[in-house]
Amino acid sequence: MSAYPKTLQMMKRGRAFLGSEYAILCGAMSWVSERNLVSAISNAGGFGVIACGAMTPDLLDAEIAATKALTAKPFGVNLITMHPMLFDLIAVCARHGVGHVVLAGGIPPKGSVEAIKAAGAKVIVFAPTLALAKKLLRGGGDALVIEGMEAGGHIGPVATSVLAQEFLPELAEEHLVFVAGGIGRGEAIAGYLEMGAVGVQLGTRFACATESIAHPDFKKAFFRANARDAVASTQLDPRLPVIPVRALKNKGTEEFAAKQREVALLLDQGSVDMGEAQLRIEHFWAGALRRAVIDGDVENGSLMAGQSVGMVTREEPVAEIIGSLMAESEAALSRR
Ligand SMILES: Cc1cc2nc3c(=O)[nH]c(=O)nc-3n(C[C@H](O)[C@H](O)[C@H](O)COP(=O)(O)O)c2cc1C
Repeated sequence: MSAYPKTLQMMKRGRAFLGSEYAILCGAMSWVSERNLVSAISNAGGFGVIACGAMTPDLLDAEIAATKALTAKPFGVNLITMHPMLFDLIAVCARHGVGHVVLAGGIPPKGSVEAIKAAGAKVIVFAPTLALAKKLLRGGGDALVIEGMEAGGHIGPVATSVLAQEFLPELAEEHLVFVAGGIGRGEAIAGYLEMGAVGVQLGTRFACATESIAHPDFKKAFFRANARDAVASTQLDPRLPVIPVRALKNKGTEEFAAKQREVALLLDQGSVDMGEAQLRIEHFWAGALRRAVIDGDVENGSLMAGQSVGMVTREEPVAEIIGSLMAESEAALSRR
């Protein structure tokens, strides 16, 4: 008899879809969600997702192979829709028989969902509005993640609590919906499951797990931070619609303002088009995040973190984090 019967029952559809013991995804985090963290999450009964980010097909190929060597459990791959080699990356996932591909960062380009499904994999999509969610689910998306602005990394403008009220009553019966953004404890998981979610996705809570390769100084910055330190970037130029990023305040967040001014100037001069301008902004983030996660430059790098960072106070093995989340959810449901 499991220690979490009520939670597992409410996660039943999500668990069947993912093929994991618990319907808890660790959302892809560029540089952080690599073989070690992904395999640890899946080995602990959750569902790990490799962050492909700006990787080339060869690098992704190596990362998937290395992850497979560390776990026999299912895991997914997160691909950014604007990656110039998206279809080659899809082919790499297909060759490895990856069971779940998460498409992040925008509306999936024509043919991408079909290409993933042709290889027998399931497609997980993000949607910032209900109308787009319905369209993507009609167009072949097998499951949906709704992610609120409390989350770390790139964010939309609406809070998780509001998205959950808008999406779940409409979609939860017929579709598989996972909730992400601002989840730090199991009581919140219980609440979203009761609203109809089949599972949840967390990032910030797992970023500093023992198995995470993030630099010790990156982890220390998380342990010290409070919710209010994880702030969203602001858009400086109305013509340059940069997607806001939530990260811990530091010199790097200020440098982002300078980067925006620089790219806006290039737009003015007509030396780049809008697509190229946005790509440059994304490259800035990828580079800055690498500096913080890998090099430990917590001053100039990007410390992407969600508001739940205040609940991350020490390094814990993934299995303990998942165990606490499940126990808190179960206790909450049992008190009802
Ligand atoms: C350091 C960091 C990097 C992230 N990188 C990515 C990414 O590359 N692709 C993506 O789809 N989401 C990314 N995210 C979002 C997470 O996958 C996840 O959805 C989010 O962290 C959930 O909200 P939470 O931080 O409140 O738990 C990132 C989040 C963090 C904290």
